[in-house]
Amino acid sequence: MDYDIKDINLAEKGRLRIEWAEMGMPVLRRIRERFQGEKPLKGLRLSACLHVTTETASLLKTLKAGGADVVVCASNPLSTQDDVAAALVADHEIPVYAIKGEDHRAYYSHILSALKHRPNLTMDDGADLVSSIHFIALEKTDDLDESIRGWAQGLSPGERSAVLGEVRGGTEETTTGVIRLRSMERDGVLQFPIISVNDADTKHLFDNRYGTGQSTIDGIIRATNRLLAGSTFVVSGYGWCGRGVAMRARGHGAHVIICEVDPLRALEAVMDGYPVMPISKAAPLGDFFCTLTGDMNVIGLQHFLEMKDGAIICNSGHFDVELDLPGLRESSTSRRVIRDFVEEFTLTNGKRIYLLGEGRLVNLAAAEGHPSSVMDMSFANQALSAEFMAREGAHLEKKVYPVPREIDREIARLKLESMGVEIDTLTPEQEKYLSSWELGT
Ligand code: ADE
Repeated sequence: MDYDIKDINLAEKGRLRIEWAEMGMPVLRRIRERFQGEKPLKGLRLSACLHVTTETASLLKTLKAGGADVVVCASNPLSTQDDVAAALVADHEIPVYAIKGEDHRAYYSHILSALKHRPNLTMDDGADLVSSIHFIALEKTDDLDESIRGWAQGLSPGERSAVLGEVRGGTEETTTGVIRLRSMERDGVLQFPIISVNDADTKHLFDNRYGTGQSTIDGIIRATNRLLAGSTFVVSGYGWCGRGVAMRARGHGAHVIICEVDPLRALEAVMDGYPVMPISKAAPLGDFFCTLTGDMNVIGLQHFLEMKDGAIICNSGHFDVELDLPGLRESSTSRRVIRDFVEEFTLTNGKRIYLLGEGRLVNLAAAEGHPSSVMDMSFANQALSAEFMAREGAHLEKKVYPVPREIDREIARLKLESMGVEIDTLTPEQEKYLSSWELGT
């Protein structure tokens, strides 16, 4: 079996940590038990580009139980848990291409390995796998990373279209990936249907809000061991992820400031009780800065220069583009790693800025990502969306589709059941009242 991981001898540690995570994933467990019997993914090759974590291991085991021939590559160079990668290879015979700290070249060569699997189904977190397939199929090989370009250019036209020809459809986990895919759909280049897992209520209302909220603060605390109480904590972006981080930072006793570009979201932040201001005004005030916007250069060099000596900056958005890192590096007179995941930059004005996790997702770089009980719902959406795509993909258009509402509701129902929470049901009289426009009073 082909694979590229750090060290197969880490498998025992990974095995135990996967077991621990799975205790928090009852919904995915139920799905796996059904998949085991029904094999809805039988005969399909599935390439996943995901953060290789204990929770992802549980998802991959479920897909394999459903009959899929699964391989996985990293969706971020810093998020891989090497012991989990080892356990997936050693215990589950799932080819893994992921090493924590891999460089750009290795990252893309791992995506290439996932592509060589010639997937029928893709599963992405950030859309790097799907966009690479499209660059190859649409002959936009100049846009590919050089580690894939040579291989793609060596393909005959027939082989190139075969890369695409075998894909029935895909699923996408994250806000950033969905934005990329929607722009592909808008430009008329999307070549197969995608289910936007991120848009399920049982995904973004929980994973993005409570998962990112807790794991981002966890990453910041693990990296720095600084006290949040009494500090000023600036959150850029008040989407579901930003709301979660702001809420948890406030819970720690921080004075939270929100920076936003969307007037509705900014207004919501105001009414949630936060001071809202542009980053140019927040820059001199913050002790901690965290970006979660999905856009680039949200905090730029002019802002770093305005910050207090000792300010801590990090990102919890998908890509490492939200902080102007090239600007920071170029304008620093010295830099050193002062502790794990904390790099000190001394600016030309003498002030020191501390960057966490190289500006990559701090929750996965410096901590372990979202806890399993929230990934339970996200990955239940992934598994059921893959099943849906296996069944329906051939009839769908080349568009981005939401997760079917019945799947979303069923996941919520199963989650409540696993928590022992009962809820009311409508009486026939109430059903009738809700469905008839004549009954007003
Ligand atoms: N994204 C955020 N947290 C995650 C986790 N624990 N596993 C996989 N993907 C994630």
